[in-house]
Amino acid sequence: MTAPLPENSVAELLAEVEQYYTKKVDTHGATPLGVDWSCVPTQQMRFVQLLKVCNFDSPIALNDIGCGYGALLAFLAQRHRGKTIDYLGVDLSPAMLTHARRLWQKRRNTEFVIGSSSHRTADYSIASGIFNVKLSQPDALWIRFIEETLTSMHLTSRLGFSVNFLAPLAEGVLVQPELYRAPPALWVTYCEKNFDSTVEVLGSYGMREYTLLVRTP
Ligand SMILES: C[S@@+](CC[C@H](N)C(=O)[O-])C[C@H]1O[C@@H](n2cnc3c(N)ncnc32)[C@H](O)[C@@H]1O
Repeated sequence: MTAPLPENSVAELLAEVEQYYTKKVDTHGATPLGVDWSCVPTQQMRFVQLLKVCNFDSPIALNDIGCGYGALLAFLAQRHRGKTIDYLGVDLSPAMLTHARRLWQKRRNTEFVIGSSSHRTADYSIASGIFNVKLSQPDALWIRFIEETLTSMHLTSRLGFSVNFLAPLAEGVLVQPELYRAPPALWVTYCEKNFDSTVEVLGSYGMREYTLLVRTP
């Protein structure tokens, strides 16, 4: 077992990330730029990949960690119209959730909570884009924080969860030190070993990223 993360370093890490995204949404509003994505098509392409972990044949409960302004709900309404999805959105940024609550106040079975982990167990959890921007945080701390977040998602998902990561850059391309990139094998091994789950890697959707689908047997 690895030692728990020191509380004050986690608090500092979360505060730095929260401030970064709050600034984005304060500047750009409830738009892809407001959650630091470049456009709707790529934001939705990520949802397409992440939702492959879900079976929509029967009603599901879904946790969305790092939900932003709740763009996933618009996508679910388009692509999975008529499906019963009990939704919980969790986000560090209160400003983000002010937008989310305003936009989705009329949707049934919908809750938004401030934080970095879910208070409930759902069938599935997804997280789009929460491991990419590490800002000034040291790699070692960021990796421990990812481990804790994956563990929390595993413990609060009955059937499985999915997450995405930035892939390593090609040789010679300038590294941006504020971004975290990792080869898929690192996180596949971590999930297989620690969660006794099967892991599928989706990497061919035209972006320098990949998605892990982690299924509980
Ligand atoms: C890149 S944005 C993506 C938002 C949304 N998932 C989407 O695709 O539209 C990341 C969001 O996750 C939130 N966030 C980042 N790290 C988080 C964490 N560890 N726990 C909860 N929320 C987090 C940010 O405040 C931001 O709203």
